[in-house]
Amino acid sequence: MSGGGSARGGPTRPRIDEEETRLLREIIEEYCGVTLAEDGGFLLERRLGARLDELGLSSFLDYYYYLRFDLRGPEELNALVERITTHETYLFREQFQLDAFSRYVLPELAGRDGRRRALSVWSAGCSTGEEAYTCAILLRGSGLFDGWALRVVGTDISNRVLATARAGVYGESSFRTTPASQRARYFEQREGGARVIDTIRRMCSFHRVNLLNPAEYDVVGAIDVIFCRNVLIYLTPAARHQIVEAFYDTLSPGGYLLLGHSENLLHVNTRFEHVHFENDLVYRKPAEAIPGGTSPR
Ligand SMILES: C[S@@+](CC[C@H](N)C(=O)[O-])C[C@H]1O[C@@H](n2cnc3c(N)ncnc32)[C@H](O)[C@@H]1O
Repeated sequence: MSGGGSARGGPTRPRIDEEETRLLREIIEEYCGVTLAEDGGFLLERRLGARLDELGLSSFLDYYYYLRFDLRGPEELNALVERITTHETYLFREQFQLDAFSRYVLPELAGRDGRRRALSVWSAGCSTGEEAYTCAILLRGSGLFDGWALRVVGTDISNRVLATARAGVYGESSFRTTPASQRARYFEQREGGARVIDTIRRMCSFHRVNLLNPAEYDVVGAIDVIFCRNVLIYLTPAARHQIVEAFYDTLSPGGYLLLGHSENLLHVNTRFEHVHFENDLVYRKPAEAIPGGTSPR
């Protein structure tokens, strides 16, 4: 195994070998399903070198033992995942899909017979919250739900991004595809960025949920639509399957699942039915159980 000091006796960052990469890959996949790309060892070395220094560990094998067997291991696993996951996101991302959501999904949900005049949307893997606020803006802006109880729940495995989500203050890069009219209407300029207005913030709540652990889904409650975009793409096929199944069990009958444009369920064995819109494909839990609901088949 690698590690230790340099030939001159000064401190050097430990190098990671194949076996250490395999062990760390295994523990990360087990914990949250995230799988490392081909150059995973390089990523771990680059992102965790300083952390090993902080912990006084001289090799990645020691770090692995720390994660597995130290009492602080579970907490460290969280910190590790924070360091290696991609949190890229922005408001009004993938506009063509949001159009399909607004044009087809929302009117259908609003028009169902016997509804309880309540609608809940879950942004699963919400990162810093832009997707959750986008959903809330679309629900409110649709004008279809006046007098309804509207709820958007954002969840992520990372506490750091959730803190930003709760603050709801964004810099320019979050607005790269936001229509100017929406920005003017739903955000107020503050020192340090633009803050989402209170009417929208009040519709949203944020919680820590590891999607690979359905026991944690309880905080989300009954859900009509799940947005899980640009999350599954980073996970192992087994984790994807497990999460999609858990989504199915969590959704209300007739509820929708929307994935990112580069993700689909073609290779996932699923009970969801496919619903094709003009420019988008979404997934629906069969509607049989809804009073007055229609099945697309
Ligand atoms: C690239 S961001 C996607 C943000 C947003 N959904 C979007 O499309 O713009 C992926 C997020 O998924 C989260 N994530 C990855 N694995 C997760 C897991 N097992 N449980 C919960 N969140 C997870 C990461 O922390 C990250 O914030």
